[in-house]
Amino acid sequence: PETITVAELANRMAERTMNITRTLARLGMPAASTDEIDQDTAELVLAEFGHTIVRVSDADVEIGMVGEEDIDDHLLPRPPVVTIMGHVDHGKTSLLDALRGTNVVKGEAGGITQHIGAYQITRKSGEKITFLDTPGHEAFSAMRARGADITDIVVLVVAWDDGIMPQTIEAIHHVKDAGVPMIVAINKMDKAGADAQKIRTALLQYDVQVEEMGGEVQDVEVSATAKTGLDELIDKILLQAELLELKANPDRAAEGTVIEARLDKGRGPLASVLINRGTLKTGDIFVIGAEWGKVRALVDDQGKQIKTAGPALPVEILGLSGVPKAGDAFAVVETEARAREVASYRASVETAARTESSMPSLEEQFLALK
Ligand code: GTP
Ligand code: MG
Repeated sequence: PETITVAELANRMAERTMNITRTLARLGMPAASTDEIDQDTAELVLAEFGHTIVRVSDADVEIGMVGEEDIDDHLLPRPPVVTIMGHVDHGKTSLLDALRGTNVVKGEAGGITQHIGAYQITRKSGEKITFLDTPGHEAFSAMRARGADITDIVVLVVAWDDGIMPQTIEAIHHVKDAGVPMIVAINKMDKAGADAQKIRTALLQYDVQVEEMGGEVQDVEVSATAKTGLDELIDKILLQAELLELKANPDRAAEGTVIEARLDKGRGPLASVLINRGTLKTGDIFVIGAEWGKVRALVDDQGKQIKTAGPALPVEILGLSGVPKAGDAFAVVETEARAREVASYRASVETAARTESSMPSLEEQFLALK
């Protein structure tokens, strides 16, 4: 457990050490200025002085709260989260449609993906895969910038006729930076004169070596419209996922990441959240970015209301105080008071970042207890 000396605590609280030792004595826990006290004791002192408690550690800076690590015994296998990336019009959404057996492309304005869709498919054999469709790479970058690397595997879609394009290259860079495995889906193979080899060769220039070229990257020839190569793609994803041994603890307060959020006229602020760990239930109180709320309803990717959502499941949440941002952290907390406190802390940090004031940052003014 973390400890802190009385003098250091006083320093961080900008209080005189004597005032702290007196308070500790009054609380029945006498200590000298050089004595170490534990986190719970420090919190009692903070409460006595009416301070807002914000613990800061690497992970906490982002989410503004403590998320305890899970011990191995509590970890269970979870489905992989796969992000589909690639250049505009190379067929990301079509491929995802084909994999889901639905038709999202036709419903999109002008056929261009307007948001990040998140879907989970279940194979006949029972294995599940969560797919994220991206409209571009901004969202992926935003999530990475916020330390929310939620992708386990990237499927890079390359239309064989169009070849390697700027966003293909960008995606390759993202994948390398993120250090996640990539599977190349060479798409539009139904088109006359299809030449997948051309793509395999062209990829070498970007330091991507597929197996046929002596490398380790898997590739699959597919056609989203003719629905060919889909099973092979799924097999390769599942094989890759198996190697990653993906696990999460379902039996804890839920934590997740915002995939997309919007204001719905009838239903109010909505957020699609990917659950990273734990299980979310209706009635849970949560913080989401600089907003908070209480789960009024959970809706799955089929538009069905569900009661609970576990690891790697994308769900739409109703009952938010406002609209968060893609990439924002989501976490269930115990009380509404705590939810308001963390949300307002995050909002103040955001405001401080926006105004770029030369004053000491709000983060600096808050207490660091770790
Ligand atoms: P953005 O979301 O705008 O980046 O595009 P996208 O990558 O999601 O591409 P989308 O799935 O919208 O497909 C773009 C166009 O390519 C559409 O007209 C599709 O019908 C077509 N297309 C996609 N896959 C295939 C394929 O396998 N074969 C053929 N012939 N056309 C395809
Ligand atoms: Mg699309």
